[in-house]
Amino acid sequence: MSVTLKGRHFISLHDFTQEELWQVFKTTEMMKLKQKMGEPFQPLKGKTLGMIFQKASTRTRISFEVGMWQLGGYALFLSANDLQLKRGETIADTARVLSRYVDGIMIRTYAHQDVLDLAKYGSIPIINGLTDLLHPCQVAADLFTIWEKKNRLQGLKLVYIGDGNNMAHSLLFGCAKMGLDVTICSPSGYLPDANIVRLAKEDALLTGAKVVVTGDVEEGVRGADVVYTDVWASMGQEAEHAKRVKDLMPYQVNAKLMQLAKPDALFLHCLPAHRNEEVTDEVIDGPQSVVWDEAENRLHVQKAIMALVM
Ligand code: CP
Ligand code: NVA
Repeated sequence: MSVTLKGRHFISLHDFTQEELWQVFKTTEMMKLKQKMGEPFQPLKGKTLGMIFQKASTRTRISFEVGMWQLGGYALFLSANDLQLKRGETIADTARVLSRYVDGIMIRTYAHQDVLDLAKYGSIPIINGLTDLLHPCQVAADLFTIWEKKNRLQGLKLVYIGDGNNMAHSLLFGCAKMGLDVTICSPSGYLPDANIVRLAKEDALLTGAKVVVTGDVEEGVRGADVVYTDVWASMGQEAEHAKRVKDLMPYQVNAKLMQLAKPDALFLHCLPAHRNEEVTDEVIDGPQSVVWDEAENRLHVQKAIMALVM
């Protein structure tokens, strides 16, 4: 394949063509194989990744840090609380300075605009490790996992059930780009951002994917190849937890609901899970769940992203 992603930011899956995303997945496949065979592959020797965290993380922090190390580079954990950002230094100035020290930045933050500003004022690739709006690295790992298990992406049906949050948004973009039919199943008050739905529908015109938003769980899940859910209260929404549990309980992914999907449907969850809220133990621990492979694939797909853009 001939596309090059060198120097690109990885902020939204909407920014990439299907060919570019296939480049990410093929590179991931190669890197995962090398890692499993114990063959070192170190294209980022001597490079440093700065990792800015404004929110907690288990998977993202560890998979980026270990991934960078496996690629021969170094990853620097930067808690936003300990940076001058906390005392009012601007994102723009932080971007200008960090660009003189490191070769790439991964950031997890609240406002999506912070990531866009880092990209605007810095001169190195910026990788979005989750904002309130999007979580593209997670969905890249999710699509790679689905491809591994189903041997194809085009024409599959993925249903996302629950809060129309950052995960729903990145799934809309990722599925529309890769040709999966995507249904977001959320009650009113928890619908995905209308602008994101509109952009995903535009992307879907190129791939023939169907983009549907519905409140009807049965309609949403029927015939699905992949059932996906996420927490009902995202980071920063802890105070709304009780109300959200009450409103979203009819959208719980349980064994009865899984029966509406295809018999060989996969269950995915970005994790961390709030067990027996958005998903029951019997589903997340059951035979259709691929959540641990999905979590592992964060490592492989992010290694591919870093190697390609840095
Ligand atoms: N799925 C995910 O991004 O997990 P962390 O919040 O643990 O990084
Ligand atoms: N929607 C969740 C995803 C966590 C990976 C959150 O933003 O907290």
